[in-house]
Amino acid sequence: MELLMLSGSILVFPALAFITTFLFWPGALLKAYDWYWRHRLGLVVRYSYNGSYRFCYSSRGAPGRATPSMLMLHGFSATKDVFLPVIKYLPTSHHVVCVDMPGHEGTSRTGPEDYSIQGQVRRIHQFVQSIGLDKRPFHLVGTSMGGNVAGVYASHYPSHLSGTTLICPAGLVYPTDSELICRLKEFEKSSQDSIPLIPSTCQELAELVKLSCHTPLNLPQQVLQGLLDNRIPNNGFYKEVFMEITGEKSRHSLQENLHLIRAPLQVIWGKEDQVVDVSGAAVLQAALPHCQVALLDNCGHTVELEQPRKVARLIVDFLSAQEVNGENAKKLS
Ligand SMILES: *[C@@H]1O[C@H](CO)[C@@H](O)[C@H](O)[C@H]1NC(C)=O
Repeated sequence: MELLMLSGSILVFPALAFITTFLFWPGALLKAYDWYWRHRLGLVVRYSYNGSYRFCYSSRGAPGRATPSMLMLHGFSATKDVFLPVIKYLPTSHHVVCVDMPGHEGTSRTGPEDYSIQGQVRRIHQFVQSIGLDKRPFHLVGTSMGGNVAGVYASHYPSHLSGTTLICPAGLVYPTDSELICRLKEFEKSSQDSIPLIPSTCQELAELVKLSCHTPLNLPQQVLQGLLDNRIPNNGFYKEVFMEITGEKSRHSLQENLHLIRAPLQVIWGKEDQVVDVSGAAVLQAALPHCQVALLDNCGHTVELEQPRKVARLIVDFLSAQEVNGENAKKLS
């Protein structure tokens, strides 16, 4: 009898903890969920330093001879965990590293000098050196703001890279305005100061989700609340970053550096992207005719969440094509 009660309370307690957490701290639960998922996928969170500047990253596997290491750079106001769905579909033999971008999540929050695209590239370069990733050419993946950073990194440090994958990268001159740009222009005219990318109510967040994802998500109110709770303390920081990356210096960084990219380039874009317009893909193709472009049907801006399996497959195929090309080149020389 006692045993029964005991096992009963053992079962009741986690369930109760779960329910109270979900009701009162939904944000904490979402973080626990990411922790659980990283754990399941075999990713370990680590820190590295440049002086007193701290980088937080997660990684799986070790650098190997067969395939290049892969470094993944997330977008504005996201974290390294946005790549979890993609990593789920990557072979475990690949060495994968996801880093929190400057000021985001576990990486040091300093000032605007680290938030411009140039500043971020400088910090990512330090990160690469701090974990010795530059000992052998690696594959760099970046999405949105992280795509802008990845492209500029590729132009600055061609010898570091075996290749680059840009997923709906920011930083180009787009022939067509995205829905976001149209809204921002309207906001400017009406001199409102709320920015669609920096929600401060559940309603604004729901709008942002709708803008970012083509697939309707219909997130429960508690999940929205949790996401919002985790974002709100960072809204001041997000505003600072937003001003930097949309400022004169950074807005077209990728465009200005395109001609310096040497490593093989892959471009992945959702055809229904309402944040960064898909017309950018043609700009990249025109400047770098050898790049490989994949435009995904029924996919919005959050490519890594909407079509993770597809993204993983495209990257793996691209890497093995590089390998074959590399070996052919060796045979010829
Ligand atoms: C920080 O990074 C820079 C550039 O990679 C490097 O020259 C410098 O030695 C690093 N400093 C420390 C303390 O690691």
